[in-house]
Amino acid sequence: MSKISAAITGIQGHVPDFVLTNDELSKIVDTNDEWITSRTGIKERRIQKEGASSDMCAEAVKGLLEKTGVDAMDIDLVIVATVTPDYPFPSTSNIVCDKIGMKNAWGYDLIAACSGFIYGLATGAQFIETGRYKKVIVIGVDKMSSIINYKDRTTCVIFGDGCGAALLEPNNEGLGVQDFILKADGSGRKHLLLPAGGSLHPASKDTVEEDKHFVHQEGKQVFKFAVTNMADVSAEIMDKNNLTADDVDWLVPHQANLRIIDATANRMGLPKEKVMVNIQKYGNTTAGTLPLCLWDYEKQLKKGDNLVLSAFGGGFTWGAVYLKWAYNS
Ligand code: UT7
Repeated sequence: MSKISAAITGIQGHVPDFVLTNDELSKIVDTNDEWITSRTGIKERRIQKEGASSDMCAEAVKGLLEKTGVDAMDIDLVIVATVTPDYPFPSTSNIVCDKIGMKNAWGYDLIAACSGFIYGLATGAQFIETGRYKKVIVIGVDKMSSIINYKDRTTCVIFGDGCGAALLEPNNEGLGVQDFILKADGSGRKHLLLPAGGSLHPASKDTVEEDKHFVHQEGKQVFKFAVTNMADVSAEIMDKNNLTADDVDWLVPHQANLRIIDATANRMGLPKEKVMVNIQKYGNTTAGTLPLCLWDYEKQLKKGDNLVLSAFGGGFTWGAVYLKWAYNS
């Protein structure tokens, strides 16, 4: 009997309608389109004016079930990668299952910041590969606008809101997730974190007054680690799987900064045409970036294409997934 692999058999994104352009931002904080574009590659981002992360998930999952023809009652497991859950508890996964009527599913939220989708993909794939489950949904979502200080020009220009959802199903042709390398270094937490609202510093008058419920990022430090580690792990997964640059059809990189994406592609020896980039229109949606890239590029993907997904983010967390695309759309 051939080994079961876990293949992505459908992908769907959802971004809020409201567009916040660089020019609009420059009316709120001391910044400008030239600085943002040249330092990051971002031109605009989406902002969710009403509702929560689970609402973006619900839209993406609705579309995913529709396009794949799968019944909500057939979903076994829903993993939601996010740093902006609706509540500390219950999990956003619980809420999405309720909103969509996935009554036979269970699920959980996974915190790995920008690496959330690849952590979720690797984790979800295990349930398929063992034969235990037939339909797993992995979601990457973040409503970053809920934890961003729009008075802080070093963070508010970068982040945006968005969501993507992937359906994982068993595959007997050897397609789907081939390998993954996941890494973490908790000592990096001082450089990128949400300081308050957890058990260490519960919400109080002081934490609110000191802006501790907004993302704290030391951009330069994070950049240094991101550029090295994302490039290294992408090269490492190629080496480990004997992939040359010619063998890789697509790099699907976390969309944090165009300069980090370019450094990763260069290290892998890939030309620009093989690199998915949509940072210009969505900014950094944290766990949302990778599934949003797959959604945007879905029509260009062919069955059997070799994809390397890679990410770096808060934690620090980082890693790469080697995936064979499983369908033509
Ligand atoms: O996704 C999770 C992981 N996160 C990342 O990977 C982000 C990694 N970091 C970065 O992408 C970059 O560090 C940033 C885009 C955040 C910042 O770019 P940078 O080239 O590292 O800029 P910088 O922080 O060194 O700042 C350079 C200058 C400073 O002015 P001075 O001190 O040189 O006078 C900043 O005050 O740019 C200034 N600056 C701005 N100017 C206009 C910082 N933010 C802005 C802004 N507009 N929005």
